[in-house]
Amino acid sequence: MPKPNNTLSSEKFTAFTDSGTEARFPIVRMRRNRSSGSVRRLVAENHLTPNDLILPIFVINGKNRCEPIASMPGIDRLSIDLVPQCAEAAFKLGIPAVALFPCTDQELKTADGREAFNPNNLICRAIRSIKKTTPELVIICDVALDPYTTHGQDGLIDGEVVLNDETLEVLAKQAITQADAGCDTIAPSDMMDGRVCAIRKALDTDGFKQVRIMSYSAKYASAFYGPFRDAIGSQIILRGDKKTYQMDPANSDEALREAALDIAEGADMLLVKPGMPYLDIVHQIKNTFHMPTFVYQVSGEYAMLKAAAQNGWIDHDTAMLEALLSFKRAGADGVISYYALEAAALLDQNLF
Ligand code: PBG
Repeated sequence: MPKPNNTLSSEKFTAFTDSGTEARFPIVRMRRNRSSGSVRRLVAENHLTPNDLILPIFVINGKNRCEPIASMPGIDRLSIDLVPQCAEAAFKLGIPAVALFPCTDQELKTADGREAFNPNNLICRAIRSIKKTTPELVIICDVALDPYTTHGQDGLIDGEVVLNDETLEVLAKQAITQADAGCDTIAPSDMMDGRVCAIRKALDTDGFKQVRIMSYSAKYASAFYGPFRDAIGSQIILRGDKKTYQMDPANSDEALREAALDIAEGADMLLVKPGMPYLDIVHQIKNTFHMPTFVYQVSGEYAMLKAAAQNGWIDHDTAMLEALLSFKRAGADGVISYYALEAAALLDQNLF
């Protein structure tokens, strides 16, 4: 018998009718399951809920300060006194976690980034104030030196070289300082080799066995971090790039090796970053390791969507939810997103 030319290539999608012929149009009509909102909801394979969202918060010094970030419309840097309110609002919308990032005063930045392990730095003060008002909220803290260094690199430097092993000691100190202030999730984003192992050892030695590690396993050297570097004030001071430690966007096998190493070193959760240009990496990491896997929809992704919406070129709310849902479809268990509050508020009204 000649092969019908509309046979599906994948065996598992081939169905047969009673008479033994392959089921296809006009018997099969895929549009039946798309014909109303109710049936679409019934057959939806993936769902976005506030449980999937993690809200990043930028912290600054001072009192009652709410400083807009030009390249991230709708996102502000908040002084510590305003942070607990913001965290509580997120928690009330059903968001289970926040991720804190400091915008350190220039005069506190040094070549060795020692402000990173000052127990009274912005991050530690913010952790303590959130824990007082919303103790159940998961607090995720970035471990990397870039918010604290005069050169904007994530590690210690010797001339042009970003030092690996010397940096590990400082990262471990930074992690301990955050855990001591009450942080429950340490998120190394620096991409030094061996950092998860160094941080796990330090946490266990200092009595923080319950503090978990969400490792930025596959963090790419990406152009999409621009607005974030504006937000924390590291863009203008960054000399060179981060390509000797962040990953090459050309690679995916390397991401799997990074994830495998992080798991072996004791990571509890994995993270891929950026998000939308790296959905294939999210999918592969989730399907290979079956670990809690997260994705960071980074500042540049947010800025692009906001700018297009502000120009009336795309519909803001639908584009936002579509982008967030794509992470779920790719296999992510959750998303760090500057949209967290807006998306959770929309989902709360059950409009989508
Ligand atoms: C710092 C860090 C960066 C981001 C999160 N942690 C920037 C960088 O690596 O230069 C970017 C997040 C974003 O763009 O939203 N290690």
